[in-house]
Amino acid sequence: MDIKASWIEKGYVDEPIPPGIDLKSEIRRIAREKNAIILAHYYQEGVLQDIADFVGDSLALAQKAASTDADIIVMCGVHFMGETNKILCPEKKVLIPDLNATCSLAESCPADDFAAFVKAHPDHKVISYVNTTAATKAYTDVVVTSTNAKEIVESFPKEQPLIFGPDRNLGAYINSITGRNMLLWDGACHVHERFSVEKLIELKRLHPQAKILAHPECQAPIIKLADVVGSTSALLKYAVSSEHDTFLVVTESGILHEMQRQAPDRTFIPVPPDDSTCGCNECNFMRLITLSKVYNTLLHEWPAVEVDPELCAKAIRPIERMLDISRKLGL
Ligand code: 13P
Repeated sequence: MDIKASWIEKGYVDEPIPPGIDLKSEIRRIAREKNAIILAHYYQEGVLQDIADFVGDSLALAQKAASTDADIIVMCGVHFMGETNKILCPEKKVLIPDLNATCSLAESCPADDFAAFVKAHPDHKVISYVNTTAATKAYTDVVVTSTNAKEIVESFPKEQPLIFGPDRNLGAYINSITGRNMLLWDGACHVHERFSVEKLIELKRLHPQAKILAHPECQAPIIKLADVVGSTSALLKYAVSSEHDTFLVVTESGILHEMQRQAPDRTFIPVPPDDSTCGCNECNFMRLITLSKVYNTLLHEWPAVEVDPELCAKAIRPIERMLDISRKLGL
């Protein structure tokens, strides 16, 4: 295939979409023809969740990638998710519609700096959030997601010193609910860090019956106000199965699409960031993925996620450990 200089420069295929085509049905047709599976995180735009074969949180997406028999995986999400898929399925082609879709958490933990931190604490076991690069995962004993972090931390003996990286908010939250004193890397998610306590309190005043649902990547003052703290899938489950009908949602607003789809009669109110008047909090990296980029990616099978095989061999161990523990715990 001829990889054009303009694609490489932009990090995605910039071919114009033929006029008059129905993008959604064309994407589904090409995916069928190529035996490709389209995976999407809950933080993707609704239209992408609708065309995906599977929508899930970080853990479910990794589990799905590990078990698929498709030849091609198209990851509608951010780069570390594509990398995790490639590490789990090195023989498959893993495509990500825009290489610029990075993750502020993964960026906040450069592998060399993390390696030095780990080396400085040789008696510690190392737990890394899945939102890390493959290079950082290579210095990790076990990977976690927000769905299984508590259980995986608790699977270590109480006296075992632990490092937790890179999310200081998730790490502090897990410390608070497990009574551990993990050493925390000083990273954070730029979306979850920007929620406004003042705006949350104001929304709660306007909707006193509403339950507050918060992701554990939020800062402690938000977590303190929350009725439920959990991963996107945990918040979704609570929102559609509890007896309540109004919710203030303190995570990336893409999740509202699935909440509203599963519970159309309930009211979901996105909590805004402190620096915006738009009313919801979107991850600019997640939102780089668009329907036309998915179409072009599938058609041209580019950009593909590549991970050096030596690095793959190191990074797969902590990911498989996570999947094993999760399987045993029924997560
Ligand atoms: P979960 O998918 O585990 O809810 O975490 C959200 C996230 O950080 C995605 O980058």
